[in-house]
Amino acid sequence: MNRRAHVPLSSPVTTGIYIYHRISTPHAADRCSRSLVTTLRAAEKFDKAHLSTPEVARLIDGAKYFYVEGYFLTHGTESTLEVAKKASDAGKVSILISSFSGDRCLCLTVQVFALNLSAPFIPQFFKAQLEQVFLYCDFVIGNESEAAAWASAVGLPNEDDIPAIAKSIATLPKANTSRPRTVVITQGPKETVVVSATNPDKPTVYPVDTLTDEQIHDTNGAGDAFAGGFLGALVAGKSVDAAVLAGHTLGAMCVQLVRALMASILLYGVLTVNCRSDPSTHGPSRLCFRSLRS
Ligand SMILES: Nc1ncnc2c1ncn2[C@@H]1O[C@H](COP(=O)(O)OP(=O)(O)O)[C@@H](O)[C@H]1O
Ligand SMILES: [Mg+2]
Repeated sequence: MNRRAHVPLSSPVTTGIYIYHRISTPHAADRCSRSLVTTLRAAEKFDKAHLSTPEVARLIDGAKYFYVEGYFLTHGTESTLEVAKKASDAGKVSILISSFSGDRCLCLTVQVFALNLSAPFIPQFFKAQLEQVFLYCDFVIGNESEAAAWASAVGLPNEDDIPAIAKSIATLPKANTSRPRTVVITQGPKETVVVSATNPDKPTVYPVDTLTDEQIHDTNGAGDAFAGGFLGALVAGKSVDAAVLAGHTLGAMCVQLVRALMASILLYGVLTVNCRSDPSTHGPSRLCFRSLRS
């Protein structure tokens, strides 16, 4: 968000995405988190009261998926916990049974909470905050360095054993036990490891398509692109398998692009994944490229 509080990216009319920023005018950020000239002030100056403004409270009540970046834990654990607890409770208690023409229909109101580890310094210096939030997390996403930092913070014997590290997070206590915690660790060009608390000793490993050095322009933001694709697919009702595939597709697109196009690609990617019936048979990448270049 720049100092004129311009909403970045496209308007809701073209993207279908509605953005409700909290604008703190004395503290204009004027920096982009991916410019490598960054500030954590967006988290530092965030006011929990923003969550209970009528407009935002309505959105939180209606949301099915929440995604919080680990950066927020540097200053905003309270706000994160408020949303995370709400999501966790919603899945526990909101069971409505209604009757249509004599048939009984079970409707379960579920709110899913996902957290990204975001950077190695988060597990390194904010372990206690992470543990508080993990209690309510349905999905935890990170990369291999963040996983290694977690292993070091909690004293796991092997910082390279990604399945074991993912298992250690997946099996931590969970407030809402009606659905398991799933941990997703990407490793750049290497395979992505997914561990679910329901079967923590059986990691699922998803290979990443190889790209040549000539194809790779900038690997910054690949993890965010992955998360966008992964969550977009989940929101569209896809399986975890399909979601990882969508994440890989956007990750691959991201590393092949220069930064300026990245944000638009993400939005197009998430929307495309949402629109497609099956990302495994309709690769979203080609459609996204066509959309941008036509
Ligand atoms: N060198 C690469 N070759 C192919 N795909 C890549 C490469 N780097 C990243 N990706 C894609 O982006 C995803 C996320 O990348 P990763 O480097 O793990 O995230 P982060 O940006 O958090 O370090 C990977 O799972 C993969 O799909
Ligand atoms: Mg990486």
